[in-house]
Parts: sequence; C-alpha cells; structure tokens
Amino acid sequence: MNLFRTILPQALLTMKTGERWRHHRKIIGPAMTTKYLRLAMPNINRTADLLIEFWECKGRLASGRAWEGEIDLESATMDAICGMAFGQSWGVLQSYIQQVRHKGAGSYVVGERGEAIFRLTVPDLARSTWYMFDVSVLQRLLFAADLCVFILQVVPVQSPFPQLTHLFSRLTPSYNRHTRRIDDFLTQRVEYAKRKAQALAPEVALDVADNTLDLMMARQLDGLQGLSDFETKQELFQYLLAGSETSSTTLAWWCKCVTNHPQVQRKLRQHLQVRLTDLRDRQPTYEELSSSNVPYLEAVVHETLRLARTAGAYLRDTTEDMIILGHHVPKGTTLVFPTSTGYEDCSSSFSAGTLIGEASRGEQKTADPLSECRTDHHPRRVGHWDDGTGHIFDPERWMTPDGMFNAVAGPSLPFSLGQRRCFGKNLALMELRVFIAKLNLAFFFAPVPASQNGFERVDKVISHPKDCYIRPVQWEMVVTDS
Ligand code: HEM
Repeated sequence: MNLFRTILPQALLTMKTGERWRHHRKIIGPAMTTKYLRLAMPNINRTADLLIEFWECKGRLASGRAWEGEIDLESATMDAICGMAFGQSWGVLQSYIQQVRHKGAGSYVVGERGEAIFRLTVPDLARSTWYMFDVSVLQRLLFAADLCVFILQVVPVQSPFPQLTHLFSRLTPSYNRHTRRIDDFLTQRVEYAKRKAQALAPEVALDVADNTLDLMMARQLDGLQGLSDFETKQELFQYLLAGSETSSTTLAWWCKCVTNHPQVQRKLRQHLQVRLTDLRDRQPTYEELSSSNVPYLEAVVHETLRLARTAGAYLRDTTEDMIILGHHVPKGTTLVFPTSTGYEDCSSSFSAGTLIGEASRGEQKTADPLSECRTDHHPRRVGHWDDGTGHIFDPERWMTPDGMFNAVAGPSLPFSLGQRRCFGKNLALMELRVFIAKLNLAFFFAPVPASQNGFERVDKVISHPKDCYIRPVQWEMVVTDS
C-alpha cells in the first residue's frame, strides 16, 4: 500500500499497525455495523435503480450492440460509496442519464470491435477522483513531462519507488488542480457535518447519523477524542479509493461470468422472484438480502468474488524470525499471499504437493508436504474444491444438499483475514448483493460476439477484466427459450 502513501498518508489503508491505526479504526469502525449498513440501504438501492435506468437508455440507443460496462459500474459504485461516506452522491449516473435520455437511436460511435461507444461528459468531482487514482494517467503524465528514462520505466504499480512516482506527478499543475477540487469539497462537507452535529444533542446526532462523516462527528460530540480535520478528510477520501473500484471490478467480472452462463441468470431470477415478493412497489431490505433468505444470491456473490480475485494479493511483514513450511523466514520479510488460492485450489493434497515441491526446489519431498502442519489441534475448517474445477464459474459449489449457503465450502479469501483484513467487507458484500439482485431481476445479459468475450486480465492494484462488453436486455424482450 506504499503506492498510496503520498496521496493518503493518514488513513487506515496506508498506516502502519499501531496506536494511531487502532484509533482510526475505533472511530470509523461502527460505520460497518448492521445498524449503519441498514441505514445505507436506501442510497445503494437508489444507485442500483439509476444504473438500471441508465442501461435501459443505452440499450434503447445501441441497436443491439454491446458496450463497455466497467466504466458505468465504476460510476455507480462511486455514487454509492460517496453516499455512504458523506451522505451525498456525486450524481455521476444522474448526469449520464440526462445526457443520454433525449438522444435519438444510433447516437453512438461504432468501436473497433463493433461495440457502441457513447461519448459522455464525466462530472468534475468524479473526473478529479479518477484522475488522482488512475495510475495509468500518472504514467501518461510522466511521459508528457518528458522526464528521464529512469522515471519513465517506473510504472507505479510495479515500481520499486511508487512514492517517488507520485511525488513527480504532484508537481504537475493539473494534478494539483484536481486535488484542490476534491479537498475543497471535503472541507465544505466536514464543516457542514460539524455544524449539523453541534446543533443536535450528542445522542440525537448519533441516532440520526446515516453516513460515516456524520457518525464520526456525532461520536466526537459524544466525548470520544476524534480525528483532526485532515485525518477525517483522508478517511473519507479513502472510502472512494478502497471502496469504489474494488466493488465495480467485482461486478464487472460478474457481468462477464453470467453473460457466459445464462442458466445461472435464469436460476437466480427465479430464486429472487420467489424469495423477494412485491419488489415492483418497494425496495429490498437488509434482512431480505441475507444469506439465509436468498442463499443462491449469496452463492453467486461468493462465486464471483472467488473467480474475480479483485485484490490479487495481500501482504504481511513478519515481526519476528519464523519457520514457514520448513523454511526459515527472517524478521522483516514481506510475505505475499495471492488470492488465487481459492481459484487454483492449492488446498487439495495434489495441488499443495505441486506448490511446495516447486518452492523447495529439489529438497526431499514427503508424500503430503503439509503433513507437519496438519495437527489434530487444528483440524481443517474449510472444505476442498474438486480437483480441476477451480476455474469454473459454478455457484452451486457453495450450496449444501438442502439448499443452504455454505460459507466454508472451499477456500476463497477475497477480503483477506486478520486485523488488517478489508475494513469495508460488510459494506462491499451488501453492495454486491443489492446490485447483483437488482440487475439480475431487471436484465438478461445476452451473449456477446467472441471478439468481445475475452477473459484476459489487466493487473493494476486490482485485477480488472481487459474487456467487459455487456448486452443487458430487459427480460420482457427475451424469448423464453433463448
Ligand atoms: C469487492 C470489494 C472489495 C474487495 C475485494 C476488497 C478487498 C480488500 C483487501 C484484500 C484488502 C487488504 C487486506 C489486507 O491487507 O489484509 C482490503 C483493505 C481495505 N479495504 Fe477493502 N475490499 C473491497 C471493498 C471495500 C470497500 C467497499 C471499502 C469501504 C470503505 C473498503 C475499505 C478497505 C480499507 C479501509 C482497507 C484497509 C484496511 C486496513 O489496512 O486496516 N474495501 N480490501
């Protein structure tokens, strides 16, 4: 996470585990509890509805062509996370809808692979945020600035000097303009939230807070030593950094998976129609989207996360010398845990043997290389995926024979584990449930041509699908036997 330390030096994501990190987590932690997630539901439901409206408009214009869906999903999750962070969406989807609503059929450009391209203007605040995050933009900046070859080779994600790269980009006037725009907005929101909280009694402020900023201010009023304004703004901005692209990329993988598995779309739609009744006139509640009420939805969400491998890996530094799988690992070593363990199924003895065999390079191998680690004191709590099936999109793998969701059916760690696990896991899961349920009820994701259906990845900080062409069609327009 060094990569972000220069733009986000004092937020959970980049802070070293210690007193200050714990204090931040204590202040914003309640935002991920059921009480606040329940309060966030209306905003997420509304955002999903706007995305549906936007895609209906696009579908009307696109004359059956597919379009790139990931940028739409990124806009939607940014709107949703802004609502959660400071109670106000940036209105990206609203703006897009206004831009396409009155266009005539065929108002698009045809791309190289036959896709429809809609040229839309991105609202200022969203543009500035993406500008600051987008490492490829930073890379282009460096080219534009014609810095020395040494710097040109320093692509931030793979860079041995990511902070240096950011430092150079911060020297450019446009970067500073975008940063100022975001900072001014956040300063205004913090001032407004302070005034609002002070006008209420502490217990009332706590009771009515329905976003993280209001919650932080209310807790401060309640006597908890708060964060400085700078730290507060950092935590809010971090929501955008950690919470929008991760969710949208996962949704992009979902679109690709279901486009290739129409039977999953049909089964999920039927499941939701039976379990969530009368949705025409109302929104689904937090409880209704729980794994016990809609287990197949939960299975689809977890199967998508398992295959998406959105966060490619997570890192841990050893705090003392240790032995891991027979190898001496000195204190201060950075260990990399790839999330692909749930994909490649390293848990089965055959795969584990292959993995350790490679790692130990010629050392004497035992029949089960993990046997020394397996003790009766720590019986395995997670099941296995069947050998050779790890790469297949199959939500059924998470279901028990009696139709319940089994969270420990097999290995998958999309949010990692331990005290530095994903802070936003509960929010992310809820967002995925709402978006997947609503999109699946609204649209059939029709097949796209082979040239638009590749499954290559682009590994930046998170792992994106190279293409995410989609063709969402309203169910009413789908013939039943298609
Ligand atoms: C599908 C969506 C998401 C995925 C796959 C994901 C995954 C991850 C992973 C793997 C980590 C690193 C944990 C580690 O180093 O052990 C992480 C950290 C983090 N995530 Fe998420 N995340 C998602 C959504 C979110 C959302 C919506 C938020 C909202 C605030 C969020 C906030 C954070 C924060 C603040 C951290 C740093 C925690 C710390 O270091 O204390 N994430 N996430």
